[in-house]
Amino acid sequence: MRSFAGRDILSLKGFEREEYFRVFEVCDKLAPIARDRLISDLLANKILVTAFYQPSTRTRLAHEAAMLRLGGQVTGFSDVKMTRAGDFYQESIKDTVHMLEYYGDVIVMRHFQQGAPAEAARWASIPVINAGDGWGEHPTQVLTDMYTIFKEMGRLDGLHFVLVGDMRMRTMHSMSYAMAQFDIEATYISPPEMSLTDEFKVEIDELNLRYREVEHIEEAIADADVIYMEPVVQPDYTKSRDEREGDVGLTPANYQVTKKLMRSAKPDSIILHSLPRMDELLEEVDYTRHARYWVEAFNGVVMRMGLLALVLGAME
Ligand code: CP
Repeated sequence: MRSFAGRDILSLKGFEREEYFRVFEVCDKLAPIARDRLISDLLANKILVTAFYQPSTRTRLAHEAAMLRLGGQVTGFSDVKMTRAGDFYQESIKDTVHMLEYYGDVIVMRHFQQGAPAEAARWASIPVINAGDGWGEHPTQVLTDMYTIFKEMGRLDGLHFVLVGDMRMRTMHSMSYAMAQFDIEATYISPPEMSLTDEFKVEIDELNLRYREVEHIEEAIADADVIYMEPVVQPDYTKSRDEREGDVGLTPANYQVTKKLMRSAKPDSIILHSLPRMDELLEEVDYTRHARYWVEAFNGVVMRMGLLALVLGAME
């Protein structure tokens, strides 16, 4: 297996099956630190730089909490408008990263342009972690999802994933690459204008992912072991910031999970949602045995602890 030390985490395409299990093992070792709300010294003397060109609640704060739990320190920006990249100068990624690499030991970047973290990694002498790039990918979120599923279901092979929402979403791309590494069957459900692109279908066909597309969640719910959700009422992920203006519309029943729908689901099926949500996942579902999206909040910190420990060479 390739070493993680010094590696960029940019994409789950090419992330190998054994690497998922290695990351999960490291997460299991570190989880007690987060569970017991301790601070260890594993990454003392290390600094995380967060470079967030798009809003985030979970991804930025989970990385920061992970670094702090491992005894490291954090610097960075969460509002690009307060940097030279977001003012008159529009400073390039290359120039920005040439600065940031001297301020810390690992960079976590979210950007509205697909490929921006990969561009940063070209110029940075320290590891770069992709925290979501436009419609591109969201590898640390999907590693958290896969870790949660593995912990909750005890396996990944042999499961049927039902994916509901906007298939242009970066999570859906990373999840598709991840599923292809396991014996997982997928059903995708999305509005036609948000469906898998022909170009992306070529990619997942090349990865031998077994999948079908259906129009209504009612057609697939009984087959689901894992229901993986994203909104269809979405902002534009190619913008640095997309304000809500007026009425944004409601989610059609085809793409909505309700308590009533879950009566047709397998008793042990689980629901994941990377959050934030709109009305595609009603709050009433939070109080069913199927909900696992709050468990993911905890696992999200543990996953980032594992990744930081690995890329910084503190665990091999
Ligand atoms: N799931 C996720 O990426 O959430 P944030 O946008 O809050 O980071």
